Amino acid sequence: MLYIGIDLGTSACKLLLVDGTGQVQNTVTKEYPLSFPRPGWSEQDPAHWRQAVLEGVPELLTGFDAAQVKGIGCGGQMHGLVALDRTDAVLRPAILWNDGRTAKEVDYLNGIIGREKLSQYTANIAFAGFTAPKLLWMRENEPELFGQIEKIMLPKDYLVYCLTGVHATDYSDASGMLLLDVARKRWSAEMCGICGITEKQLPKLRESWEPVGTLLPDIARALGLPETVIVCAGAGDNAAAAVGTGTVGNGGCNISLGTSGTIFISSDCFSVDPSNALHSFAHADGGYHLMGCMLSAASCNLWLMEDIFKTQDYAGEQAAITQDKLGRNHVFFLPYLMGERSPINDTDARGCFIGMTMDTSRADLLQAVLEGVSFAIRDSFEVAKSLGIDIPRSMLCGGGSKSGLWRTILANVLGIPLDIPATEQGPGYGGAMLAMVAAGQFPTVQAAADALVQTADTVEPDPALTALYDARYQQFRKIYPACKTLFPQLL
Ligand code: XUL
Repeated sequence: MLYIGIDLGTSACKLLLVDGTGQVQNTVTKEYPLSFPRPGWSEQDPAHWRQAVLEGVPELLTGFDAAQVKGIGCGGQMHGLVALDRTDAVLRPAILWNDGRTAKEVDYLNGIIGREKLSQYTANIAFAGFTAPKLLWMRENEPELFGQIEKIMLPKDYLVYCLTGVHATDYSDASGMLLLDVARKRWSAEMCGICGITEKQLPKLRESWEPVGTLLPDIARALGLPETVIVCAGAGDNAAAAVGTGTVGNGGCNISLGTSGTIFISSDCFSVDPSNALHSFAHADGGYHLMGCMLSAASCNLWLMEDIFKTQDYAGEQAAITQDKLGRNHVFFLPYLMGERSPINDTDARGCFIGMTMDTSRADLLQAVLEGVSFAIRDSFEVAKSLGIDIPRSMLCGGGSKSGLWRTILANVLGIPLDIPATEQGPGYGGAMLAMVAAGQFPTVQAAADALVQTADTVEPDPALTALYDARYQQFRKIYPACKTLFPQLL
């Protein structure tokens, strides 16, 4: 039997063909554009996602028996607002998770409605990338389009809709809309009222592994798949990646160094960070998780390498950062290229290099970027620790985790071992695992994780280097508070 896992990412859609024993048989990646129409805005055309799947799946199946495909599961970029009219046509480009246009709406929600009320209604407060502030922005700035909204969807839910014709979402992804009462797993009537929408405009709620439907006949034909293929609800990409690294049940941790950087702590029980710096969301295994999300992680490295250094020789540039340099860099980098979410919640924050001297080299700047992202992950790690959560080790996934140097820096900045999964396909692999549960291959997500996920390698921290990095982190954490009031003046 075969399963298709889809990772609907920000820069590309990655498709995986996985067999019933969890072996990845084939992969296809389809890139699509991301547009920044104004500084801090971030949009994408949902038609590109649909096209990526329509083109990618037949390629993925080349040389395989399509009749063996039993299920499709998707992990998708979270929070994006996809608005459909009454003919299910997309009303405007999707406003993505890393879009910062809603500062005013976030201030209204957190300040006027109030953080306590939001937390009581949804277990979370407002962050610029969340979906509810985007609805308020549309109501204020695009009232005509807002009035035409018949259905509000998240990115991967739009794909599931294209495949099955059903408007559904799952609890993990719905948690990031600020419209879900996460503790009770139902839409919040209060939040619908605040955003000027009705529950009818929202998709049906499902557990991630629950089947949403089967393929529409014309889609099945276009993809070259049987109409009987089951499409499950899927998950937000972080929950799907956590499933893909076996971070399910109680007390697991997964760190993802993707376009965004996240630290994801799984739990059987619902809980809220009283400071709301960490998100309190449902997990794709039926439980819950706390998550810190930084908006620019591996994307800071990509920006420095490709936009500034004008090279794609990642390994070559990193080779100049020798072991003796670790923990001793005099340059710091604040990785806030798109503003920042966790834990500082500041759309005005910006990237900075600080501490350069005449002998600062290109390699020092690169090292500062890898370290700055790691320090910023530690900021959320420290919030989790302050809540009494013990994180003795973590899984590590995402594009940035391919760099041995970055793994070493992060393990020593956090002072914990980092486990690298044998299959490092994150959200797509988790999506395929959810499809396996939907199709009956495994009874639960936990059973799928127990059977399929293995650790290939562990990066152990070195006590001397951890101490050096701890001292550097204490300096790093002073930089943002010192710059904070400056940022709004620089816009
Ligand atoms: C999580 C978040 C990002 C996106 C990236 O809250 O906004 O990790 O899901 O795709």
